[in-house]
This record gives sequence, C-alpha cells and structure tokens, in this order.
Amino acid sequence: MLRVRCLRGGSRGAEAAHLIGAMVGRAVSGWVSRAFRSTSSSAAAQLPLTVDEPVTDHAPEECPVCAYNEWDPLEEVIVGRAENACVPPFTVEVKANTYEKYWPFYQQYGGQTFPKDHVKKAVAEIEEMCNILQHEGVTVRRPEPIDWSLEYKTPDFTSTGMYAAMPRDILIVVGNEIIEAPMAWRARFFEYRAYRPLIKEYFRRGAKWTTAPKPTMSDELYDQDYPIRTVEDRHKLAAQGKFVTTEFEPCFDAADFIRAGTDIFVQRSQVTNFMGIEWMRRHLSPTYKIHIISFKDPNPMHIDATFNIIGPGLVLSNPDRPCRQIDMFKKAGWTVVTPPTPLIPDNHPLWMSSKWLSMNVLMLDEKRVMVDANEMTIQKMFENLGINTIKVNIRHANSLGGGFHCWTTDVRRRGSLRSYFL
Ligand code: ARG
Repeated sequence: MLRVRCLRGGSRGAEAAHLIGAMVGRAVSGWVSRAFRSTSSSAAAQLPLTVDEPVTDHAPEECPVCAYNEWDPLEEVIVGRAENACVPPFTVEVKANTYEKYWPFYQQYGGQTFPKDHVKKAVAEIEEMCNILQHEGVTVRRPEPIDWSLEYKTPDFTSTGMYAAMPRDILIVVGNEIIEAPMAWRARFFEYRAYRPLIKEYFRRGAKWTTAPKPTMSDELYDQDYPIRTVEDRHKLAAQGKFVTTEFEPCFDAADFIRAGTDIFVQRSQVTNFMGIEWMRRHLSPTYKIHIISFKDPNPMHIDATFNIIGPGLVLSNPDRPCRQIDMFKKAGWTVVTPPTPLIPDNHPLWMSSKWLSMNVLMLDEKRVMVDANEMTIQKMFENLGINTIKVNIRHANSLGGGFHCWTTDVRRRGSLRSYFL
C-alpha cells in the first residue's frame, strides 16, 4: 500500500490567488505590479527590498510558478517550438548520445537547419497539441522564436545553436522555483535565451528564479575519446558507469530529474554528471531529497523515456532499461507499470531518440494523459489503468527528440507538497 505524507499547504495560496484572480482580474497582483510596473532595465532598481515590503512574504500567495510532481492538475505549461530547429554540430558529446544510424546525417547537416518540410509538419503538429491543451483548460505559453543558426564563440569553444523544442530539458519547476539547467551540449549553451521573456514575467509576478552555475563547456568537460569507436564500445563504457561528460565542472539537463513531491529522482547520464546532481541536492535540501537511480541503459540521456512517474506511487518503467533500484519503489508500495513496445515504424526518422517516446506522456491530472494518437497499445494500457487518453499526433515533432513530456515544462499544477516515498 502506498503511504503518503502531507507536508504543507503548498500551493493552497496559489490556488486561492488563482480563484481571486479569476474574480477580480488583474487587480490581484498587488505588490507585484507595484514593484514591477516598469519593464526591463529600470525594474531592477525598483525592487521592493525594504523591511516594509518583504518580497518573500508575498510570493507564494500568488505565485505563477508552482509544481511538486508530474501529475497534479495542470494549469499552465510551456510548450516548445520546432521553428528554426538546427542540427547540432557533430561534436564528441553529440556523437555519444546519438545512434550510429544517424551519424552520416549529423556529418552532413551539423550546423544547418533540420529538413525544412519535416520541421514545417512538426510546427503544425505542435500548434494542434497547444490547441488541444487549451481546450483541456490549460494555459499554454511558448518560448521566443530564435535564429539558432548563428555561430557563437566563448573563450572556450565555438558552436551554433539547436532549438527551443524541449523545455523539459532545460527548465524544472520545484515548488515556487523555476530552475534553468546548465546543460551539457555546446549547441545548447544559449538555449535559455528563448525562455527568458517568460521567466522574467514569472519572476516579476513572484516566482523564485534560479540559474544553475553555467559550465565553461571547455574541452575538459568531455572525454574526447569517448564515442569515437563503435556503438558497442559505448554500451560497454556506459555499463561501467563511464560517460562522455567528465566531473570537470557541474553539468545537467533538467530532464534527467523527475519529481514526486519531496522525493526527486535523477540519473547520472551522458549530460548529467555527479557534480551537477550534487549541486541540485545541496540547492534543494533539506526540503527535497534527491535520489540517484540507475538503469541498464547503454545510452542514458533524460530519464522520462526510461522511468516516467505518472501518479502518486505510479511509474512507467521501460522494460528495455530495467531500474537497478526497482525494489526500493516496490517496498514503498509503488505500482510499477511496464509499457508495451512502441509501434513507431523503423523508417520514421528519430534523429535524436529511441522509439520509447511512446511512454514519454504528459499527465494533465491523475486521470488524464496526453498520449500519441498512433500508439494504440499504450492507449489501451492507460485505459485499463482507468486513465483517460487525450490522443495527439506529433510524429514529425518526435523526430526532433521528444514526446509530450519532453516538449513541455509544467509551470503550474494545483496541489501541495507531499511525500510519496516513505
Ligand atoms: N534519450 C531518450 C530515449 O532515446 C529520449 C528522452 C527524451 N527526453 C527529453 N526530455 N528530451 O529514449
């Protein structure tokens, strides 16, 4: 049996403010609008940092950012953009995370846009997904369209960019805080820029905003010899716990973390190193406990197509990538569900992921799941679990490396902080 401990009112304040907000419109923003009425540059000078107007007292009351887990009722979500998506240059860290089948593709297109007609279809699919989310009562926000083909140079490296398709990879909301991950791919160094207008807005309205220490991404962060041989080599290395990223400095992608109230689970992956995990652990303790878990996975990058927590004590666990600590979950009374084999055909391009995007679903609440329209078997599985399916087709969007969970960051879910892992 699952044991749940309730810790605090959590977003009760946010919930109340939401209701009041609905009644009185914008008037609810109180100190926030006073403090941040002026936009951009002059705003910083007017921060209400005086004893009379403590910032922190007010923030949780009406915080636009609030989520503790992956399944509470979803109120606001950021959905990524396929526009201007570029193939990352074929560097050592990209090679370590991509399938051999597509290496010639990267060699040919690295630094250029993804095939234009494919991206166009992805854009249309994501528009439709946004419409459906709105129809389900969720507020949808989008990152800025940015030209990712621009070359940039830091003291340590030169690269072009990638995309703002997968907000899950870069942003994680923990309580009232939105955290920007440092990332580990050079092509993703400046990805945060697409989200800054949104994040600044959330900050002005009371959210806590953190950007994790930015890595230099100098050569020392990568094992330069790592993947140059064959995929088999890489599998062996990963099995020994050796990854392309070193421990030179902290790095992580937000998508290697998955939340269940006071317990947050993370994997050491090709893009998340132990220093990055340790940074998150110290940053979030003592309220949250970070658990490192691991999988039999030759290609770990982003936990949400491997171990996707979809409810209180309910997790989808990829049968091809068994979790080494699964007993820990069973002992805690969790239900471990094995999703069926994905149905996506072999000839459909998946340039940046495996087929297991089928289990990369987004929960709108405990009883509503956004799932691929083509994946009949997993739809059936959800229906057998008593979860209603909202079916959406994002096959071309899948090609850029993500399913519904990857394509989104949940900004606000109505709920409170609880413990589900006792
Ligand atoms: N690396 C995963 C796989 O190939 C895909 C995970 C995608 N998740 C994400 N947040 N981008 O199965």
